[in-house]
Amino acid sequence: MRDRAGRHAGRQLQQQSKARRARAGAGDRRLAAKNLTAPRVRRGRAGDVDSLVAIERACFRTDRMARRAFAWFLTHANADVLCLTVGGDVVGCAIVAYRNGHHIARLYTLAVLPALQGRGFGTRLLAAAERAARKHGCSALRLEVRMRNRAARAMYERRGYRQIERLDPYYEDGAPALRMERVFNVPAKTRSRSRLQSPRSAAPRSRMQ
Ligand SMILES: CC(C)(COP(=O)(O)OP(=O)(O)OC[C@H]1O[C@@H](n2cnc3c(N)ncnc32)[C@H](O)[C@@H]1OP(=O)(O)O)[C@@H](O)C(=O)NCCC(=O)NCCS
Repeated sequence: MRDRAGRHAGRQLQQQSKARRARAGAGDRRLAAKNLTAPRVRRGRAGDVDSLVAIERACFRTDRMARRAFAWFLTHANADVLCLTVGGDVVGCAIVAYRNGHHIARLYTLAVLPALQGRGFGTRLLAAAERAARKHGCSALRLEVRMRNRAARAMYERRGYRQIERLDPYYEDGAPALRMERVFNVPAKTRSRSRLQSPRSAAPRSRMQ
């Protein structure tokens, strides 16, 4: 059972979520009315760019990924792009990036359309991202999250992510981030991939918020 502070935090998360849904656009609400019983996670394809850009715009106000970055991740980067679909529409995505010779994968982005948040889709994408990282031979998944993003932080903590560093400032608006990591309990296989790095590899900052 939650204590008082826990209930207070829960109420705050619900208010934040309500505000997010209020910001959702008409297209978003149309999706919310769809049959939500058959969500599916699949690999991203080149034709998903428009959907991914729309999710990005709906979910992030700063540090947005550019269309060409999505196109790069989908076609050339050493990364897994995972799309969550509902009724055939892409409504969420996660990108896991890898570096040659490194056993730690990076969750580059994770987002679900505002109107469809709070239904378990984010957790589902996160689990798929973890599976992808393990399959790739990584021993851990690392990410950065905005200090004030309580919903996301709660989700990561519940799935076993631990804070390893505070980065201040981190985002375009100067806000701080927490670096979090989940270490998998299976030994990593070394696997190197010779494909090119992402365009952001030169600048290690990720836009995970
Ligand atoms: C973070 C995000 C991906 C989570 O997606 P989601 O589909 O809402 O996630 P889930 O429904 O699986 O919920 C996961 C957890 O988030 C929190 N949460 C989400 N919605 C919530 C709500 N309405 N009320 C309270 N907590 C909520 C809870 O901790 C929840 O855990 P639970 O299993 O105990 O309910 C989504 O909120 C999002 O896209 N946010 C904007 C982009 C972003 O901030 N991305 C993260 C970058 S680090």
